[in-house]
Amino acid sequence: MSGELLRAGILGATGAVGQRFVSMLSRHQLFRIERLMASSRSAGKPFSTAVEWLMPGDPDPRLAGMIVSDCRPTDDLDLVFSSLPADEAVNIEPAFARAGIPVISNTRSHRMASDVPLIIPEVNPGHLDLIRVQQARWKSRGYIVTNPNCSTIAMALALAPIHRVFGIEKVIVSTAQAVSGAGYPGLSVMSMLDNAVPYIRDEEPKLESEPRKIFGTIDGDHIRSSPMVISAGCTRVAVRDGHLMHISFSLSKPATETEIRRCWETFVPEISNLSLPLCPERSVQYLDGDDRPQPLLDRDRGAGMTVCIGRLRSCPVLGWKCVALGHNTIRGAAGGAILVAELLAARGWITAG
Ligand SMILES: NC(=O)c1ccc[n+]([C@@H]2O[C@H](COP(=O)([O-])OP(=O)(O)OC[C@H]3O[C@@H](n4cnc5c(N)ncnc54)[C@H](OP(=O)(O)O)[C@@H]3O)[C@@H](O)[C@H]2O)c1
Repeated sequence: MSGELLRAGILGATGAVGQRFVSMLSRHQLFRIERLMASSRSAGKPFSTAVEWLMPGDPDPRLAGMIVSDCRPTDDLDLVFSSLPADEAVNIEPAFARAGIPVISNTRSHRMASDVPLIIPEVNPGHLDLIRVQQARWKSRGYIVTNPNCSTIAMALALAPIHRVFGIEKVIVSTAQAVSGAGYPGLSVMSMLDNAVPYIRDEEPKLESEPRKIFGTIDGDHIRSSPMVISAGCTRVAVRDGHLMHISFSLSKPATETEIRRCWETFVPEISNLSLPLCPERSVQYLDGDDRPQPLLDRDRGAGMTVCIGRLRSCPVLGWKCVALGHNTIRGAAGGAILVAELLAARGWITAG
């Protein structure tokens, strides 16, 4: 059975997102972890020694004993998942693409490059066509496909069902983001306990630019961005996992509350007929309670892959507003990237070497 699985490497395997990859890929139907890679601090050590394991339960025994290696391409990999810091990903990810290895990345470094797809599988799977342009650039069968920022994924998935029917023109979003979004060990307890910090470095520009690429259209060898205008304010709060956000939006066509609710309730993504293992039954779910969604109660819906929405009501400034919640290290990082890889495999973009 394992011989049929695609051989995956994880770049940044010891980090907050890397561990989530290890946990989610331990018993995956399509992928088998072949290599765990991290910095020179970890290379040469067994994974269980190199990592400060934060996931529930123990790591899979086969992986706990695997020796961590440095981030260099080898010919025993069919794909790599990357959760490297942005400064490191700038050079390491292209080295893998050039060596013929598909890279599915969580890092911001290449997200906005003109020929790099920025993918939410349920929203813009057609953008994967840009892979051909990139393969010509690398002169290789390798490429980089990116996962959006963790807040962008929740917001874009929440808005996509409405945007496709009524067109969204303007958005104002204000986030309350979990501490796990800052990686491990992240912020000190002293700076977060009894506190909220109204600044997250580089976060607001990502929320203002990435959805425009995701909702954009392919124009030859690049994406023409959507004209949607977005204003974002981001705050770090003392929550472990789950990014919550208030979103106000204006529509290009008039809609009623019932019609907007129906967009979420009837949303069937194009990829739903592919039976991808991590595709949740519901990619978006509207919750009726006045005080929902909440990180503690709702972040694990759909095994962390469902974006929850609530509190749809009129907005005196832009017309409509709601609340959305996404699990940042599952839907917003490792889970989102694994779903991208499942889609790539289903479409024949990743094959056994
Ligand atoms: N946390 C989230 O919710 C989230 C969500 C979406 C996207 N992201 C993005 O995902 C990436 C990783 O985030 P994280 O939160 O997992 O960070 P993290 O906990 O700090 O982990 C960083 C990982 O990168 C490795 N690394 C550091 N320097 C390296 C180097 N010079 N060469 C090779 N490997 C190196 C570390 O290995 P060592 O242990 O050996 O140092 C570790 O495995 C970031 O780009 C982040 O923006 C994070």
